Amino acid sequence: MEDFTKIAQLKDYVGKQVTLAGWLYNSRSSGKIMFLILRDGTGLCQCVAEKGKVQDKLFDELEHLGQESSLTITGVVREEKRSVGGYELSVTNAKIIAPASDYPITPKEHGTDFLLSNRHLHLRSQRPWCIGRVRHTVIDSVRRFFNDNGFTLVDAPILMSLAGEDQQSLFEVDYFGRPMYLTQTGQLHIESAAMSFGKVYCFGPTFRAEKSKTRRHLTEFWMVEPEVAFIDLDGLLKLAEDFVSFIVKTVLERNRPELETLGADIKAMENVKPPFYRLTYTEAVNILTSERTKNFLAEQLVKLKEQKEKFEKRISEIEEQQKGQLKDWQREKLAAELIDLRSELEEVNMKIENNPKHARLAAEFNWGKDLGGSDETIISQMHDKPVFVTQYPKKAKAFYMKTNRDNPQVVLNFDLLAPEGFGEIIGGSVREDDYDMLLKRIEEDNLKVENYQWYIDLRRYGSVPHGGFGLGIERTIAWITGERHIRQCIPFPRMMDRVYM
Ligand code: 4AD
Ligand code: MG
Repeated sequence: MEDFTKIAQLKDYVGKQVTLAGWLYNSRSSGKIMFLILRDGTGLCQCVAEKGKVQDKLFDELEHLGQESSLTITGVVREEKRSVGGYELSVTNAKIIAPASDYPITPKEHGTDFLLSNRHLHLRSQRPWCIGRVRHTVIDSVRRFFNDNGFTLVDAPILMSLAGEDQQSLFEVDYFGRPMYLTQTGQLHIESAAMSFGKVYCFGPTFRAEKSKTRRHLTEFWMVEPEVAFIDLDGLLKLAEDFVSFIVKTVLERNRPELETLGADIKAMENVKPPFYRLTYTEAVNILTSERTKNFLAEQLVKLKEQKEKFEKRISEIEEQQKGQLKDWQREKLAAELIDLRSELEEVNMKIENNPKHARLAAEFNWGKDLGGSDETIISQMHDKPVFVTQYPKKAKAFYMKTNRDNPQVVLNFDLLAPEGFGEIIGGSVREDDYDMLLKRIEEDNLKVENYQWYIDLRRYGSVPHGGFGLGIERTIAWITGERHIRQCIPFPRMMDRVYM
């Protein structure tokens, strides 16, 4: 096949003739001059066709070509700062490959439900495309960070004979007549590998039968988990902050245009550098129950109500405008803005409704409980950089976390909360490395000891202090891109109430 020039490479072809191959993203024509926006997977390019400069028959065909038709366009490259991507093509020729008509997703906006039910096509739209590119960079930088820092990749199995996290969220599968489970975490397996290679990581899909339909939960998500022999809690925090900072830095280097299109908070991302904030769980509880938090939430409520008013005002303005005479493109633009505004209004209304509830939960928080989603949100909203929360109460956490020998009420664990309300993106801990203590914890949690025999065995033969953590890829992407819902951060999302394709 002919070697087509890629839109991302146009800067090297200014003044030259090239042929692009792709799909028609959008077009408009004045009858004499026509603007065709082509997308080719690497970017968008506005191609300008003038009557008289291309054959009349072709001009006519292009004018009637539907969105997402596939075609090649030949023309001369021109720098054009105001144009999408910064370069334009003066069209000399074009070849239609497969015309399309009535493409269901138009450049004007659609509701989330509709788009999720058209995911196979929606992937071609700008937002999913930008998020997909950021996802690619995040995953590439995850691998690069560990590969360049002496870690060995060890693949953990997906079919598991035992629970790695809570029993309630296990997906059971029929494995030749006996029950097995889809993995919730590769941690237990790579702990055994850390005793062989020292520093290891696993990276793959993980599964949780989460009944909560929140914007932070998928039933299938990707997690990367490093595990290190001879490390303590401080060492883990250092590793996690270097790791997260590296991911963010790489995305900023490679995907700035995508972040801009997505409306991400680039300034906030530039601020993501070590050291991150460090709080103990007990300090976090003190913050939650403080006067400062009460005032913070009260001020937030005032701001939310102001936002609500602003949105409502603009919505009624638009509704008024829609009654008048409008051009097609004006009507589409207003309709798109309206959909945006309505979803923002919905979000603000939800926050207004939740604010008093969350304020009460925070004020009445008792030492000993795990931090809930709203508590994490409050802590992370009060910080402009990621926050480590360490040393949670033992009774709220998993059996494998090491008990703090100086304060046996708590374990040597941490969560990393992304700032500005995004909440937990990493969970990790030092592992219980004492044979008897681990056995006791397994029994206390009513787990079947015989299933964990191999895991306990690691504490029998050369046990060493070790630990690791798991970073959720989709939550990390949601935070970096400013996307509200993690279902947009995986190409084919799986949720409790929805599986499409
Ligand atoms: O905090 P979690 O449950 O930790 C573990 O699984 C440990 N075994 C990891 C380890 O120490 N090796 O999960 C880790 C991260 C969370 O912080 C979150 O980012 C993500 O995985 N996560 C989810 N992401 C999307 N949907 C869900 N249902 C998720 N559950 C956890
Ligand atoms: Mg967790």
